[in-house]
Amino acid sequence: MTVLVTGGAGFIGQHLARRLAAGGHDLVALDLLLPQVHRDREAALASFPGPVLVQDVADPDAWAGAAAPGRPDVVVHLAAETGTGQSMYEVERYRRVNVDGTRLAARHAAAHDAALVLVSSRAVYGEGAYDCPGHGRTFGSPCCSRARPSASAEDDPHRPVSVYGETKSAAEAVALAECAGRVPLTVVRPQNVIGPGQALHNPYTGVLAAFLAMLRDGRALTVYGDGHQTRDFVHVDDLAALLAHVVAHPPPPDEPLVLNSGTGVRTSLLELARLCGAAAPGGPTGVTHVDVHRAGDIEHACADLTRSRAVGAPLPSRTTAEAVAAFVRDSWERPGASSATWDAALDELARRGLTS
Ligand code: UD1
Repeated sequence: MTVLVTGGAGFIGQHLARRLAAGGHDLVALDLLLPQVHRDREAALASFPGPVLVQDVADPDAWAGAAAPGRPDVVVHLAAETGTGQSMYEVERYRRVNVDGTRLAARHAAAHDAALVLVSSRAVYGEGAYDCPGHGRTFGSPCCSRARPSASAEDDPHRPVSVYGETKSAAEAVALAECAGRVPLTVVRPQNVIGPGQALHNPYTGVLAAFLAMLRDGRALTVYGDGHQTRDFVHVDDLAALLAHVVAHPPPPDEPLVLNSGTGVRTSLLELARLCGAAAPGGPTGVTHVDVHRAGDIEHACADLTRSRAVGAPLPSRTTAEAVAAFVRDSWERPGASSATWDAALDELARRGLTS
């Protein structure tokens, strides 16, 4: 099969492409090679096992004419803007890339009778589900002090609290409108994806890259708030295995499938800090609590994997502890930004009134 991977030169795309190439598939990438993500453009081009069309996914011209990606059997749509905090002020850019880009990718799939795999995000759930012994299940916020955060299932309502989450929710709706009943559509909603190859220069790639930079600088890790917030950190190879599975097993066109990707286990930020310190060759550097809340941030996230089990999708094979250790070991000697870059990103949010 020929598989078109938008955003194929990125962190997840490269892991997926290697897996698909090993399975004998022909690959094409459509990727803008954004400087915010790709410091070494030649290395990014060389690491993709197939031609890379250097194009903007949200530009209609990228999908038409001589430069268009041809007739794939499957389109895996990964190209997206992914920084939760940055999305709160780069609103139009996030909408354009994440929503308009998805519309063009979905139209290309539908026009060529190709299956679409849309990589969305757990950000569509926003604060997600809470279970309370007195009030039952609520979404978006805890009903009372007895409510506990619960894993998000695919049929839970969309309640995004960031522009990023809004754009991913809108992208899902666009893909459904363009593909349902015409071509197979699978939507995958990853939790926080980590692992070797993650961008180390980009201060919008998440807490783990921030913690690595601080450890390498010998600084205490900045934990925003009390550190009891939780996330579900999944190894990028486990997400790649799930994506390769859905590429090979498209659902019927009139039965679009939505699947979470995560470990199903929540990890607090304090535990993440401990795991990072334990894996660092330089040893732990301690934790500093910073009393700040970023607009668009949520408290808790975790994937419910019941549906993945029911449909026989591959389940994660690595724990968060293993994924964190692999990331820290692999990234320790690689070039990356200094921790001051993450301080600057937080300052930028504060200047724009997006912290409290
Ligand atoms: C992340 C991804 C998003 C993905 C989503 C899925 C980023 C920027 N966003 O969002 O693309 O779809 O997971 O769940 O990767 N924090 C600190 N100290 C720091 C940096 C962050 O305590 O130095 C805290 C944040 O306040 C937050 C938590 O760490 O509570 C996680 O933040 P972050 O990794 O930036 O992103 P998510 O919002 O989880």
